[in-house]
Formats: sequence, C-alpha cells, structure tokens
Amino acid sequence: MAISGLLRPAMLAASRSPRMERTVTRMSTTKKLVDRFVAGESEPNAVAAVENLLSSGRYITVDYLGEDTTDIEQARNTVTHYLSLLSLLTLLRDSGTVGPLEVSLKLSALGQSLPADGQAIAHEHAHQICTAAADAGVLVTIDAEDHTTTDSTLSIVRELRADFPSLGTVLQAYLRRTEADCRDFSGPGSRIRLCKGAYREPASVAYQVRAEVDQSYLDCLRVLMNGDGYPMVATHDPALIEAAEVFATATRRSSDDFEFQMLYGIRDAEQRRLVREERHVRVYVPYGDQWYGYFMRRLAERPANVAFFLRSLRPG
Ligand code: FDA
Repeated sequence: MAISGLLRPAMLAASRSPRMERTVTRMSTTKKLVDRFVAGESEPNAVAAVENLLSSGRYITVDYLGEDTTDIEQARNTVTHYLSLLSLLTLLRDSGTVGPLEVSLKLSALGQSLPADGQAIAHEHAHQICTAAADAGVLVTIDAEDHTTTDSTLSIVRELRADFPSLGTVLQAYLRRTEADCRDFSGPGSRIRLCKGAYREPASVAYQVRAEVDQSYLDCLRVLMNGDGYPMVATHDPALIEAAEVFATATRRSSDDFEFQMLYGIRDAEQRRLVREERHVRVYVPYGDQWYGYFMRRLAERPANVAFFLRSLRPG
C-alpha cells in the first residue's frame, strides 16, 4: 500500500484522539495551516470571511465548529452560538446580499451522542435553530457524520422537514446505502448536499477504493439530478464537476436548479471560475475554537497536506 494509503486512516484515527487533540491544538506551528481551512475562532472572523465571499458572487453556508458533544451544557452553548450567528446573518441579508444564506449543523454537536435521550435532545436543539433560521430567512442543512449516526440523523431530518420543508441534509457517496437514500430524498422540495464522505468507515458499510467511491458519487448524482429536488454538488473533484454539468444539460436543469459547493480554502480559483460561468457556488465556512476534528479530516484528504503538517512538527 502507498504511504498515502496508510496516512489517511492514521490521520482519521488521530482526528478522534483526545491526546492528539491536546498536542496539536497547543502547537503554535499548526495555526497557519488551520487558517487555510478555518475562517477563524470568533464570530467577527466568520462574518469577515462571509462578507469577502459574498462580495465575489459566491453563496455561503456557515458552520460553528464542534462535534461529538458529551456534555449537555456544551450542546446548549452550541445552540446559543447559532442563534447569535443567525442574528448577524440577518443583518447581512438586510444589507442586500446575493442568494440565500445558509447555516450547517452537526447533530452530534447538539447532543445526539449524549447517553440519555441524545436523539430527542438533538432534535429539540435543531428545531430551535431551524425556527430562528426560518424567522431570519436563512436556510439550514444538516451535516453527515460517521455511519453509526446516519439512521438517527436521517430520522431527525425527516421529522424536522415536516415543520421546515426546505431543510437540507448531507449524504455521503462512500456509504453503500447512499444511492437508496438519494432515491428516498429526491422528491419535490428536497435539498441534498452530496459529498464523497470524510470519516474512517469499515468495508461492511463503505466503499474503500477511490474508483468505487467516485462511481457511487456518479450513481447518486444521476438519481438526484433526475429527481425533483435541488441537488447540491459538494465536491472539488474536476471529473465530478464536469459530470454534474453533463447531467444538468441532460436533465435540462438551469443554473437555478442546482448548485456547486466547496469548502473554505480549497480550490478558490475553481470556485471563482464556476461563478464566472454563472453557476451558483456555495462555500462552507467553518469557524470556532473546536477546529481539531474538522482540521484533521482536511489534512487526511490530501497527502500533500499531511506532509506539510508533519514538516511543521519538526523542531526548527
Ligand atoms: P477529492 O478528495 O478526490 O479531491 C479532489 C481535489 O480537490 C483534490 O485533488 C484536491 O485538488 C482538492 N482537495 C480536496 N480536498 C482537499 C483538501 N483537504 N486540501 C486541499 N485540496 C483538497 N463530508 C462528510 O463526511 N460529511 C459532511 O457533512 C460533509 N460536508 C461537506 C460539505 C461541503 C460543502 C463539501 C465540499 C464537502 C463536505 N464533506 C463532508 C467532505 C467530503 O466528504 C470530502 O471529504 C471532501 O470534499 C473531499 O472530497 P472531494 O469530493 O473534493 O474529492
């Protein structure tokens, strides 16, 4: 196996290690690399990044970083952060931005993994945020986490959609179940963000080989593009971006009938090129001090990132 094939699982395992988290977050040398993928630790940092992206014609979705919360107070604190963020986004919207603003939520940050009543607590917290977002005219999409949470997440999404029909959700093409989930969620009004998937998953539930993941992405995208919902094509992969264009032409979708989505700090020139081609491009803007898990997943995606990170660990 190539070294890059070994590094990815190692980095993803490290992304869940509290000991590694303590070490990495204390290192001053990581900051520059973190800044590439994370808009900053504070709300003003996030708003500055959002304003910059909006001024270039891109759309945004903002994520207050945090995951795997095992403390109810922390879950409540996350809700408070989102409510505050939504008030700031309302001000931006009132100042006349292009396109709908959005926030992205991780249910595990809202209490989904709490030992008692986690699912009900996450549902209640997400409901509070969706209510405030609806009042603010801001969209919401629920992120996808590791496969042990998928059933719970999709069940919460189905319930929330009864009250908030525009609620979006993320589906991960690397999961073997996802083509079927795409069929379930391809009806009128659905908003599905299709990504490859970023967690370490066993072969029993997820494709392990890159070509199989890419083929699954194409199969899922075909279902969504032929469906009645609004596909959100979340990838930086040039072959899949090209495939989305081909599907859009074949299914007669105009620029208003789907959108591309990319992560903050990744393929900025491609984001701008798609905007020039009059495509809608939404950028996922993460902020907050709980950046460790998100950052490690970004490193794991690309061997060059890992090499850069490892070099930064060497004493000067
Ligand atoms: P791929 O990994 O093949 O990358 C294609 C090219 O993009 C690379 O060759 C490189 O040029 C560039 N690139 C990709 N990642 C990079 C990186 N980290 N650093 C530098 N360059 C990079 N996952 C998940 O499990 N749950 C979720 O909720 C989400 N949410 C989400 C939202 C949005 C808007 C996006 C774009 C992605 C996600 N993801 C996610 C992450 C997703 O699952 C996946 O891990 C990354 O998007 C990388 O996969 P690509 O499709 O970009 O292909």
